[in-house]
Amino acid sequence: MQFTLRHTDTRTEARAGELATDHGVIRTPIFMPVGTAAAVKGIFHRDVRDEAGAEIILANTYHLYLRPGTKILEEAGGVHRFSTWEGPMLTDSGGFQVFSLADCRKLREEGCHFRSHIDGSKHLFTPESVIDTERAIGADIMMAFDECPPGDAPREYAAKSLALTERWLDRCFERYAQTQPRYGHYQALFPIVQGCGYPDLRARAAENVRQYDADGYAIGGLAVGEPTEVMYRMIEVVNAILPADRPRYLMGVGTPTNILEAIERGVDMFDCVMPTRNGRNGQLFTWEGTINIRNKKWEDDFSPIDPEGTTFDRRYSKAYLHHLVTCGEMMAAQIASLHNIAFYLRLVRAAREHILAGDFKEWKEAAVAKLGRRL
Ligand code: GUN
Repeated sequence: MQFTLRHTDTRTEARAGELATDHGVIRTPIFMPVGTAAAVKGIFHRDVRDEAGAEIILANTYHLYLRPGTKILEEAGGVHRFSTWEGPMLTDSGGFQVFSLADCRKLREEGCHFRSHIDGSKHLFTPESVIDTERAIGADIMMAFDECPPGDAPREYAAKSLALTERWLDRCFERYAQTQPRYGHYQALFPIVQGCGYPDLRARAAENVRQYDADGYAIGGLAVGEPTEVMYRMIEVVNAILPADRPRYLMGVGTPTNILEAIERGVDMFDCVMPTRNGRNGQLFTWEGTINIRNKKWEDDFSPIDPEGTTFDRRYSKAYLHHLVTCGEMMAAQIASLHNIAFYLRLVRAAREHILAGDFKEWKEAAVAKLGRRL
């Protein structure tokens, strides 16, 4: 999997690159819409790709393992054929979900015992079983199986958890080397750097993952309750150590401002449920700040959702969307989700253009001054 850096900013750590997968080239920095069950909630693949301009989507091993299960995915010929998403795909390992969604978990050296959040059935994820499941799903990028401790974990727990994640990583790479892609396309394996809010643990974790000569590296365990400044500091510590010539993926982050701050610190890839989840609740992201479309103040505002948007965003007025939300129409969630995904992709694309043009820093500062406002 080839990563080519097109430009590195001279005044910040921001980079513009291209990541070539067997399902297409991803221009970085990139935002990956979350399609947990191999579908971005409420949006047709066609719109995710053509209206929003997504270049890669993310699915989840935990969810796909439980439903439909690997047997069906294998029979279908892998997740691309099953879902008809033809572009690049990434699977998260389920490391995060077994800790946040599943109940009755038992964490052991071998792996994690959990009960399904759907029917209470008992399961075990091990580093080996997760790699086998990710091979069966068939995404272009597979994530290693990790433990993601809470943001306020005490140091002793954080250190113990990191050591376990590191032993699991070794087992993930061993299984990865012993197995082959099933569907004729290359599958990369990205390690995940943990270490909570402790700079020395993060630095050690980043040094450790470097050993693996991976196609890319992820930073996990952030935006899990720690102060934002701690998150930014951890990104700086880790990115100073990760190899410059590989993509860096910040997992599960975040607001538009978080994304620009992380790009400034050298992150290339992002995913987050915020644009779709918050969209379903009536929150819209714009360059001027966020809008709660449920608010009565939009009732007679006939201006477009986003005057700087695409044809899609300019087609619907705030008043119409307010009306749809008020009536509980399904289309309200669909329009808001698609608008937000399109906005996140415009955001990272604009960042890329400004990195290439050499004025990223000024542009980012002006953008951040407005993005966090509540309209
Ligand atoms: N998604 C958001 N954070 C994480 C993390 O720390 N690990 C994994 N596997 N997925 C995540």
